[in-house]
Amino acid sequence: MRINQYIASAGVCSRRKADELIEEKRVKVNGEVLTSPGYHVEDGDVVEVDGVNVEPASKKVYYLLNKPTGYVTSTADKEGRPLVTELVPDSVRVFPVGRLDLNTSGLLILTNDGDLSNKLMHPSHGFNKRYLVRAQGIIGRREAEWLEKGVNIGDFVTSPAEVHLLKHDRNSTVCEIIIHEGKNRQVRRMFKAIGHPVLELSRTGLGDLTIGKLATGQCRKLSPAEVEYLKRV
Ligand code: URA
Repeated sequence: MRINQYIASAGVCSRRKADELIEEKRVKVNGEVLTSPGYHVEDGDVVEVDGVNVEPASKKVYYLLNKPTGYVTSTADKEGRPLVTELVPDSVRVFPVGRLDLNTSGLLILTNDGDLSNKLMHPSHGFNKRYLVRAQGIIGRREAEWLEKGVNIGDFVTSPAEVHLLKHDRNSTVCEIIIHEGKNRQVRRMFKAIGHPVLELSRTGLGDLTIGKLATGQCRKLSPAEVEYLKRV
């Protein structure tokens, strides 16, 4: 098994992140710092990440978390801020699939299944992502249509989206937006591009999965049917 897959299946992080760890010289095999990202782990090899032995976990676990704002979507943080992984009550190590910004709340999947994580993060997976947004100012149908048709967010023109205007007060608008991509800070950049910066952002759905009544900071295990659904799509 390739080293990045081995590390991911141990529940340390995603394969992509494992490649970064290797590049940062944080991975050792049999006591030697690994220099080849293509290394294949052999029976009997001892693999360490940051000095800690890692072994693939046989039991796969899948959680859905309602992430609070102020938590970092990562398994470690140099600034010592709270981590989403601290909200999962399992002795098995898990890592987040994809990313929500520090100030975004809502639905986040955590697992130790590197293959599923890889699949979900691939741009072709086609899941829609549903967000509840409170944005500055009053957004009308015309501006909502700009978001729906696609806006230039700097390095990228977004593909068609769906926007439902829900309510507004004198200073802000609440709406739901459904997108199919996952560029870095995409929703915030889309609303900024139409002149209505995001004030609050929460992910409420991922494909057929919804946050439902799960309280902020709480997580639950995905049902076998939900796991099957994610693997199938
Ligand atoms: N889009 C954003 O701007 N931020 C997130 O956290 C998720 C999607």
